[in-house]
Amino acid sequence: MMQRAYFITGTDTGVGKTSVAVALLQAATKCGLSTAAVKPVAAGCEMTDEGLRNDDALYLQQACSTALSYAQINPFALQPPIAPHFAAARQGLHLDAQQLATHCQSVLDLKADLTLIEGAGGWRVPLNESESFADMAKLLAVPVILVVDIKLGCLNHALLSAEGIRADGLLLAGWVANQASGVNECHAEMVADLQGRLACPLLADLPHRLNQNELAADFDLSVLQAT
Ligand SMILES: Nc1ncnc2c1ncn2[C@@H]1O[C@H](COP(=O)(O)OP(=O)(O)OP(=O)(O)O)[C@@H](O)[C@H]1O
Ligand SMILES: [Mg+2]
Repeated sequence: MMQRAYFITGTDTGVGKTSVAVALLQAATKCGLSTAAVKPVAAGCEMTDEGLRNDDALYLQQACSTALSYAQINPFALQPPIAPHFAAARQGLHLDAQQLATHCQSVLDLKADLTLIEGAGGWRVPLNESESFADMAKLLAVPVILVVDIKLGCLNHALLSAEGIRADGLLLAGWVANQASGVNECHAEMVADLQGRLACPLLADLPHRLNQNELAADFDLSVLQAT
């Protein structure tokens, strides 16, 4: 895998995008690959002595082999844990797909073997009155990884997300079955059902695991390399 970049999206907020991104970065590092990551917009930040900080961005920063400043990982750190364009407006900021894509590109230009870009929430989360995170991904033209929390309702959300990604002309490089909210009694059936319908590789079927540093072992990077 040489200089690959992926946009990590999910069926919803809280489905495990960051957990999956960290696991993929750790798996790549174990294979001797260099890694980088971007969380261009994070809503739900804590004020610290160094400024606003978001847990996702800090986890990604820690998991990367490339030394990246906080601002490189997360240029837009927004305080309230609400929809990003609402949070931006409260700080007098305007989010713009081209500006965010340009920032992501500056990290891609560092040419790590694997660069992951984590969106916020799901595929069609608004950036402003007319654009969404999908527009930023389209400008970057990177393949997409879809994280699905296997729970009631996820079949519809996963299929709509895949449809939206492909309708936007992007490659769905693979999907990850996760158990962020716990074990579902229909887990195996739902994973098999989605495998039949999503028409892209299942990169990992992750267990509900409290020690998430162990999730990296569940990823087989050769599946991604083959896409
Ligand atoms: N496989 C798993 N086992 C146990 N807990 C998990 C698993 N995956 C995710 N979680 C937990 O679920 C919660 C949501 O996960 P995570 O923060 O990765 O989601 P997200 O999609 O990145 O959310 P956001 O939209 O806020 O960025 C976190 O508390 C995380 O620790
Ligand atoms: Mg996250």
